[in-house]
Order: sequence, then structure tokens, then C-alpha cells
Amino acid sequence: MPEPRIAVVGATGAVGGVTLRLLRERGFERVRALASARSAGRELEGGLVVEEATPDALAAGDIDLAFFSVGTSASRELVPHAVRGGAVAVDKSSAYRLQDGIPLVVPEVNGERALEHDGIVANPNCCAIPLTMALKPLHDAAGLARVRVSTYQSVSGAGAQRMEELRATPSGEGNLAMDWDFDGEEFDEESKLRDETRKILELPELPISATCVRVPILVGHAEAVWVETQEQLSADEARDLLGRAPGLRLLDFPTPRDALDVDDVLVGRIRPDRAAGENGLTLFLACDNLRKGAALNAIQIAELLLARHPIPA
Ligand SMILES: NC(=O)c1ccc[n+]([C@@H]2O[C@H](COP(=O)([O-])OP(=O)(O)OC[C@H]3O[C@@H](n4cnc5c(N)ncnc54)[C@H](OP(=O)(O)O)[C@@H]3O)[C@@H](O)[C@H]2O)c1
Repeated sequence: MPEPRIAVVGATGAVGGVTLRLLRERGFERVRALASARSAGRELEGGLVVEEATPDALAAGDIDLAFFSVGTSASRELVPHAVRGGAVAVDKSSAYRLQDGIPLVVPEVNGERALEHDGIVANPNCCAIPLTMALKPLHDAAGLARVRVSTYQSVSGAGAQRMEELRATPSGEGNLAMDWDFDGEEFDEESKLRDETRKILELPELPISATCVRVPILVGHAEAVWVETQEQLSADEARDLLGRAPGLRLLDFPTPRDALDVDDVLVGRIRPDRAAGENGLTLFLACDNLRKGAALNAIQIAELLLARHPIPA
């Protein structure tokens, strides 16, 4: 099968660096690294030299797959040029996630949707990916009635610079943060989590509320989830379902440290919700936000597309 010509746009960032590493590990060879003019010419680990992601470079017609992790406004500006040049773009920003007609994909949950793309596939928010992976099997078995989630998100979710800031913070002086755009009631991270979960699960009316918090750790997000189902589902049944679900791994007490550099989403603490009626369960998730929460999920989307539509010789 001919090798796809791949562009990693945002290659100098937290997600871009992991994307390059995973592409190398998975044997992709025709990979270019692009970023802004600020880092053009810089040599990255592995020897790739960063090119500037100009509209012309992206539209030149020599890219089959473009992974974008550049932030929302740069994605809005640059992704259409890559698509114009014939590439399929997998975009990790929130620019296109909720746009009608653009698939928002977690391969284990709604992978088939990726095949409906018209040039762009959106990669969900780093908390929506693990959450939907855990909710989907529960919904298939018992129907979701209501979901509440509280997140514990590492600083790498806010990019490479925030990781540097935490590294420079004296030990013991880290704090919780709520550093997303606030609309007077909710952070945009919380509404994204609701809207994206509804779109991925195709449950547009699902009652779901989130409280998102940034915690002073470098990598790995965790989520406490309270689920009410339509049919009764015991904790043992839920554990069995989640243990068999693709991409999930059971662990009694999952932490971000356990999830570091691990492909799977870790799920544990599955128990009855003592504050709910008979149909309430609670559980805890941990996930490497740079890996399954971003880079890996995007690469799995691309692999799914390549398996169905190999690059023509
Ligand atoms: N971190 C996560 O856990 C996570 C998870 C899911 C999705 N995402 C999304 O992925 C995107 C990137 O996140 P990140 O954490 O990797 O951020 P980051 O560490 O700040 O990196 C940003 C990258 O984008 C590049 N860039 C910025 N503006 C650009 C422009 N106008 N043209 C070309 N390149 C540009 C930067 O290049 P320079 O070095 O040249 O400035 C850098 O490579 C964001 O949309 C974020 O929401 C992140």
C-alpha cells in the first residue's frame, strides 16, 4: 500500500510532539512537521525540520493527511487550505467539532461517522473522548438518563507553555485553576463537554452537566462520572461491560500517573451512586490527554480512513 504523505501542523506543540512520536512508532515514514513562522527552520527530535504552515504550503497538493493541533483560530484559517489541496484534515481544535456535516469521531464509539467526511474530521475534546468511551457501552445496555461529570485536568491540556510554567512552580505551590472562557454561568470547557458528548453519542437531549477543574499535574486527565440509566444496571454488570469495551481497561483506582503513555482509558471505582435511586452508578476515569485525548485518537481516525480508502498508487 502506498505510504500516505502526512503533515503534522502544530508539530512544535504539546499535542504535535506526541503525534510525531506516535506516527514514528506506528511506522509512518512520509511525515512533515509544520508550525508557525516563529519556529520555521527549527530541528526537532528525530531530525525533522519545521516548515512554516502557510496557506500555499498546505494547498500545494502534496499532502494526503494533515493532523492539525494549532488552536481554534489558526485551524479556522489554515484547515481549508489543506482541504483545498486535496488532504483529509483531522483537526484537534474546537473550530469544527460542532459544525453540522463535520463528523466528530471517537473510533471506538462512532468510527463509521468518519467515513462521511467531506475533507475534515474533528477530534473531540480531551475529556469528551474518555467520557464517551465509558458512556457508550452503558447506554447500549441500559439507556442513559442523566450524566454528571467532574474533571481533574492536567496543565498539558492548555499547551506546552503551561507545562513549562508548572515545571517552574516551586513544589507545593501548585493550585487548582479554572482557566477557560467563562460565560457568566459555565466555562466553555463545560459546555463543550456537554455538546460534544451529545453529538458523539447521537443523544441531542441527554441531560448532562460538567464541572471542569485544572489540577497542578503535567499530563493526564481524570473524571468522576455519575450516571443514571433508564434500565437498572448493577455495578457488577457495568464493570463487566466496561471491561469488555474497546479501548478501556479496568483498574481499581485509576490515576493520571497510571494512564501516562498508555493507549487505553483507565476506568475504575465502579459502584452504586448512594445519592441516586436504583439506577445510579458512579465511576472514575483516567486518560493520557496528549495521547488518547488528542494525538492517538486522531491517528486512529486516520488509520480507520486509510483502511477503507487506501491512498491510490
Ligand atoms: N493539549 C491537549 O491535551 C489537547 C487535547 C485535545 C485537543 N487539543 C487542541 O490541540 C491544539 C493544540 O494544543 P497544544 O496543547 O499542542 O498547544 P501548544 O502546545 O500551545 O502548541 C500549539 C502549536 O500550534 C502552533 N501554532 C500556533 N499558531 C499557529 C499558526 N498560526 N500557524 C501554524 N502553527 C501555529 C504552534 O507553533 P509555534 O511553535 O510555531 O508557535 C505550536 O506548534 C489546540 O486547539 C487544543 O485545543 C489539545
